[in-house]
Amino acid sequence: SPSLESLNKQLNNCGISEPLTPFPGSNPTTNPVDVYRCYIAHVLAPITGVELELVYPALEWTQNLEKGDLILAAPRLRIPGKNPSELTKEWAEKFPENPYVRSPTAAGTFLQFYFKKDVLSKLVLSSILSRKSAYGPIDTGKGKRVIVEFSSPNIAKPFHAGHLRSTIIGGFLSNLYESCGWDVIRMNYLGDWGKQFGILGVGYKRFGSEEKLLEDPINHLFEVYVAINKVVEQEKEAEKNKAAEKGEKQISNGPTDQEALEFFFKMEHGSEECIAMWKRFRELSIEKYKATYSRLNISYDVYSGESQVSKESMERAGEMMREMGISSESDGAIVVDFKPHAKKLGKAVVQKKDGTTLYLTRDIGAAMERYEKYKFDKMIYVVACQQDLHLQQLFMILKLLKLDWADRLTHVNFGMVLGMSSRRGTVVFLDDILADARDKMHEVMRKNEEKYKQVEDPEMVADVVGRTAVMIQDMSGKRINNYTFDMARMTSFEGDTGPYLQYAHSRLCSIQRKSGIPIPELLNADFSLLTEDHAINLIRCLAQYPDVLQNTLKTLEPTTVVTYLFKMTHLLSSSYDVLRVIGEEPRLSAARMALYESARQVLNNGMRLLGLTPVERM
Ligand code: ARG
Repeated sequence: SPSLESLNKQLNNCGISEPLTPFPGSNPTTNPVDVYRCYIAHVLAPITGVELELVYPALEWTQNLEKGDLILAAPRLRIPGKNPSELTKEWAEKFPENPYVRSPTAAGTFLQFYFKKDVLSKLVLSSILSRKSAYGPIDTGKGKRVIVEFSSPNIAKPFHAGHLRSTIIGGFLSNLYESCGWDVIRMNYLGDWGKQFGILGVGYKRFGSEEKLLEDPINHLFEVYVAINKVVEQEKEAEKNKAAEKGEKQISNGPTDQEALEFFFKMEHGSEECIAMWKRFRELSIEKYKATYSRLNISYDVYSGESQVSKESMERAGEMMREMGISSESDGAIVVDFKPHAKKLGKAVVQKKDGTTLYLTRDIGAAMERYEKYKFDKMIYVVACQQDLHLQQLFMILKLLKLDWADRLTHVNFGMVLGMSSRRGTVVFLDDILADARDKMHEVMRKNEEKYKQVEDPEMVADVVGRTAVMIQDMSGKRINNYTFDMARMTSFEGDTGPYLQYAHSRLCSIQRKSGIPIPELLNADFSLLTEDHAINLIRCLAQYPDVLQNTLKTLEPTTVVTYLFKMTHLLSSSYDVLRVIGEEPRLSAARMALYESARQVLNNGMRLLGLTPVERM
């Protein structure tokens, strides 16, 4: 990693003779904007009479470059009894001439700083071109461990939109933490236990096919599950009618349901035959899931699941709750009444009358086991907002148990996907969605015959870009917002779509190929030749990328990155006509190519972080 010494040498070459004194916790060697923060803060502290510790963090990045590269809100310095608008004017006047920022602008209560172009282009472009895929993330998580639990589908039930969103968002968050130096445990907590496995076991005996199971376990198990549930429903209906005829209360759900209960009872009591069957379903499904996840560039460290939570840990949790007066008995069941602590959390059952555990109980045991095993500094549950209450109850129980890690848990929630359907109807399998997106993308690409002919492996490109389309649509808005699944819109090249981003990347690759300038030579280009507003604004935007990622660690929103990438690619699109590479004087060509290559690198880094595979030709 680059040293402070070489940074100082570089700054010296830019005409800044004063060596940089890094503010504690700043990262000037990896974040060019921190160089400015350090200098500006050191100058501002004596001018404002406020200590450095308060000035430094008040220098914030802006969403809108027209407002400056860094901005300081005067009230943040907490100077009593003075008009902030007067103060900013006074400070602006006192700020000395220097090589790195223009004289600051007082805009009401804000003080705006604009970076001077020469130092900026040298710092930013050389940082990107030399650090390449490492540009952006800052190692703030060194030595810390985070568990990201995401996707977590239920075996034998469809992988629905909620699981898709969890997969996409969780995959992104894992990448983000990992890139920032965290030790990330990617965990899939499968719904692989419960009465539905009794139903599935019975169903398999009647409708199962070994051949189909081996060929396509996920779909076959679902088929079996649907078929046997139909039988259960029919029997239930018949029992209901029978009871009604006799004027009795319905007591049985029918023989198949009874059989399923027995099957699950046997599983819970360790029957070898039943367990062996269940285990096979689980393993075959996981194998298939792995292949699908890898299409989304995701691989898990742990496939855990509800079945993996030990009886002992659940019993221990049960005892603790009883001893600490958190739970109580009610009608033979054990319940937790949250009302004294948080009214809206209501009541929850943690153990049924017959002694069996529930979803919530398993989550309590699972969290405790995970802490014992991994000693995490943070644990993130990426789960749909339909389960807000469940996770609030879980977190509250752990807090009431006075577990000192209870405050390390975060629920990252998200809204629904509306109008999703696939070739198989409204039941949606991830593989089908990706296949649909690929076909649609292929169709869109074919419309441009000229270009289509030049693509080497159009099927493959359509597949990659189709996945991008699905993922970008999902990550474009705030997580909590619902969105409508719109195949036509997401596969279009117009608007802020996945194909647009891929196109931007492949266009930059094509410019580089055509320029014939080898990438390693770009570091020696004369960046001072980049004088046009288009060039400067693009560089200012590229400078923001590390701060964007730091901000994303706070928002935990993929859209923070996605919005940034679109902003950057829009600046790019409007630059191509102004900043030509081909046919220009060689030194100017090289400087512009260095700029485009830097943009390509940042786009590539951002896309990979989102879990996408940038294409080089399309
Ligand atoms: N399998 C669950 C479902 O599909 C999601 C699991 C969420 N994670 C958890 N720890 N409860 O609804």
